[in-house]
Parts: sequence; structure tokens; C-alpha cells
Amino acid sequence: MQLLDGRKLSKKIELQIADEVKELKETCGCTPGLAVVLVGQDPASAAYVGMKKKACDRVGFYSITHDMPENISQEAIERTIISMNENDSIDGILIQLPLPPQIDTTKLLELVDPAKDVDGFHPFNVGRLVTNLDGFVPCTPLGVMELLKEYDIDVKGKNCVVVGASNIVGKPMAALLLNAEATVEVCHIHTDDLKKHTLNADVILVGVGVINLITEDMVKDDVIIVDIGVSRTAEGKLVGDVDFENVSKKSSYITPSPGGVGPMTIAMLLSNTLKAAKINAKKKNS
Ligand code: GUN
Repeated sequence: MQLLDGRKLSKKIELQIADEVKELKETCGCTPGLAVVLVGQDPASAAYVGMKKKACDRVGFYSITHDMPENISQEAIERTIISMNENDSIDGILIQLPLPPQIDTTKLLELVDPAKDVDGFHPFNVGRLVTNLDGFVPCTPLGVMELLKEYDIDVKGKNCVVVGASNIVGKPMAALLLNAEATVEVCHIHTDDLKKHTLNADVILVGVGVINLITEDMVKDDVIIVDIGVSRTAEGKLVGDVDFENVSKKSSYITPSPGGVGPMTIAMLLSNTLKAAKINAKKKNS
């Protein structure tokens, strides 16, 4: 069994990004800028945004967080997004999800300029991903693909089972695997007999936030496991969706959680923001 070490790879990627930022600053005086919208007091969202901001600082990005109260109006968030769309010092815009129930999330995601959509949630970028065209790809599944690449794992022709069908993780994960010529199955909350599907999998990619959803009896020998889930146990410990202790014994490769996919998500946010900044720098110079 070999660990897919997202912490190690994300550090390597951050160093490369920091070098590129330095060069960009020297050659055109441009500093990549990320704007984050955070609504309400959800501790998990606040923690994620804090980690993203710290990562921006480490690589030399400019970042700003728009902290908004839980009872904010749709119009107020829309005004903020429009002003960030028009602001030349902002290359990437991220709206931390989930948003409170009075907010129309889809409408906000569609308002973000697709050229600044570093989360890859705008339908324009979703369409480009599904048609295998260049664009912005959601950070978590993009991070998974980078992690597999680092360990020379080619999914071409492999049976890949994605567990979870969200717009943020499961669906774009399935699209990326399909683009890489894998055979892809997507299982979700209504799937009958999950084990029947996972037993047939060469690669299982699971991100639903259910502790111990994947157990050793559900996987075949030498399976590759990518655990995208993060939950907190009653004792306050962070764990994934996979019974790591027992499943790892049967795996050829497995991500730890935490320390696998999580750090890769943040590294890909930095990578997407740098990509947006480079496109903008080119536009400014032409
Ligand atoms: N909430 C949970 N994951 C994500 C993510 O990747 N991006 C944003 N914006 N919100 C999230």
C-alpha cells in the first residue's frame, strides 16, 4: 500500500506557484488577486476561507475576503460580485458555499465573470469541462487528477466508481475521469446496493461526508482509493468516508483524510487563480 500524499504534493505546487508569481511581478508588475465572498458564521466555511487566504499569502497573491452577515440580501451580494467582475486587481472570484436559504446560489454563480471563475462553477466552464475544452475546473476534482498523475496512475480503461454526485465534486470528477478515458460509474444516495458497484471498481473516489461508508468487504484487492470526504467524529477527530485502517490493507494506493485531497483543493485554487492572472496579464500587455 502506498499513500497518496496530498500534503507533500501541494507544498511542491505552492513553491512552483510562488516562483511564477515572483516572475509575473517582475515582468509585468502584476500581482494575482483573489476575492472571496463569505456569508454567515458557519465555522467550517470560515475555516476553509481562512486556509485559502493563508495559502494566498504564502505564494504572494493579493486576497480580499468580503465577510457578509447571514441575513444579507441577494442584491447586496450581486452588487459585490459585479464590482469584483469590474475590478482589474481581482483575477479570481470565489463564493464560499453553502449560502443561506434566502440566497439564489445558481443566480450568483452565473453572475461571476467566467474568466474569473476560479472555482469552475459557472455553467460556461462546466460546459467546457464536459466537452473537454480548456477552462476553469473545480478545485477538488482537479486536485484529485493531479494527485493521481504525480503517482503515475493512469485511469485510462480503468473502472472508476465515483460515490457522490454533487456539482462541486462528483459530477466534475466523473467528467475529468471520462476525459481521461476511464470507464466511469457515478453512485449516489439513491443507488441500490453500493457494494455491488464498488466491488467491481479499480478506483473508488468517494466524497459524501459519511464516516466509514466504504469498508473492506466493499473493495477488491489492490483497489486505488481516493477519499474526498471530511467529517468530524463525536470525539472531534477529522476523518474521511473510508474505513482507512482496514481498507488500506487491501489497497494499492490510498489517500489519507485529512492530508490527501484537502490540501490539493487549496493548491488547485491557487493554480486556477494564477492561470486567470496570466491570461489577464497577457491581455493588459497586448
Ligand atoms: N464549499 C465546499 N467546497 C467548496 C469549494 O470547493 N468551493 C467553494 N466555493 N465552496 C465550497
